[in-house]
Amino acid sequence: MVRFYPTFFKIVFSGMDAERAHAIGFAAIKACRQSGVSKVLRVLTAPDKSLRTEALGRVFPSPFGLAAGFDKGATGINALTDLGFGHVEVGTVTGQPQSGNPKPRLHRLVRDHAVINRMGFNNDGADQIGPRLASAHADLWHDYKERTRPIVGVNIGKTKVVPVEEAIEDYVHSTRTLAPQADYLAVNVSSPNTPGLRDLQHIDALRPLLGAVVREAELAARRHVPVLVKIAPDLSDAEVAAIADLAVELELDGIIATNTTIRREGLGLQSSPADIEECGAGGLSGEPLRKRSLEVLSAVRARVGADMTIISVGGVTSAGDVEERLQCGANLVQGYTAFLYEGPFWAARINRGLKKMRRLRR
Ligand code: FNR
Repeated sequence: MVRFYPTFFKIVFSGMDAERAHAIGFAAIKACRQSGVSKVLRVLTAPDKSLRTEALGRVFPSPFGLAAGFDKGATGINALTDLGFGHVEVGTVTGQPQSGNPKPRLHRLVRDHAVINRMGFNNDGADQIGPRLASAHADLWHDYKERTRPIVGVNIGKTKVVPVEEAIEDYVHSTRTLAPQADYLAVNVSSPNTPGLRDLQHIDALRPLLGAVVREAELAARRHVPVLVKIAPDLSDAEVAAIADLAVELELDGIIATNTTIRREGLGLQSSPADIEECGAGGLSGEPLRKRSLEVLSAVRARVGADMTIISVGGVTSAGDVEERLQCGANLVQGYTAFLYEGPFWAARINRGLKKMRRLRR
């Protein structure tokens, strides 16, 4: 099949500010939904039945989903699931609305298929986003009826102005507001762009935080809402092991590995040192993250045993990458950065590739 998106990207998006390009691309995806093209899209991109995956007490139409950060405000869930993603993780949503870091805060390193971002959780806050999730769920029920519907995860994080010592209350507020509308909750303690956030990965801080979120989620939703913790690739192997042990101890539903990295390893083969310098601080994602993300996946799976759900994310581009993660112990796989480079039919292409690989294996 001829792929026109790489040429389109080069001509239209590559010279444009990355955040503006994201806004335009996302608006176009949402416009498809409004124009009624969505029905056709849904048929064309529907994951094959053979890809259905049971995890977190749900049936996911495909093991492949969209990672947090793309739809921070839950404004395009249905448009995104129309593209073939088996799940969409919205957010990060914080307890209070906030505008994030000053722009520019999103940089592409095209030749390395990477991105550096320091967005800083720009979002409308839990109170505004809750009703959007409810409305997206109603649309999903309408669109999919008895068929397997895509799953909606909600990623929550700390409001910047809230001191780390008061973080639990902030997360609990988001949990109370959003858990009733979430198929699962992801507790984000690993983004590098909120000062102090990653300190919450220390076991002494993480234990009470996760305990409080789990308790509040059950109370607010009056059902079991799976809770997962999203971790950084920059943790040492010992820290990864300690969090895995804590997840087992707390009977958490899963671990999402990994968020972006503050390291710059794996870069520079293609991008010049000046390009990298120009991007400044922030989290690196995309292909350079692939190796460490795989290492963390393997380490977590070895530690938690077979029962816990692991969502692997970081540097996934192809169906082969997704299959590799599944072989290494992931139950589900997510991606974000490659979506910017591969275009709107990325998830559908991955689903087709997975189907083909599975058929060949039989
Ligand atoms: C992210 N990511 C992210 N993660 C998260 O938990 N909350 C967030 O708000 C964001 N925001 C965000 C913005 C941008 C611009 C990017 C590129 C990434 C991290 C993302 O979910 C994922 O963990 C990493 O990007 C690694 O996956 P990829 O991009 O290599 O497939």
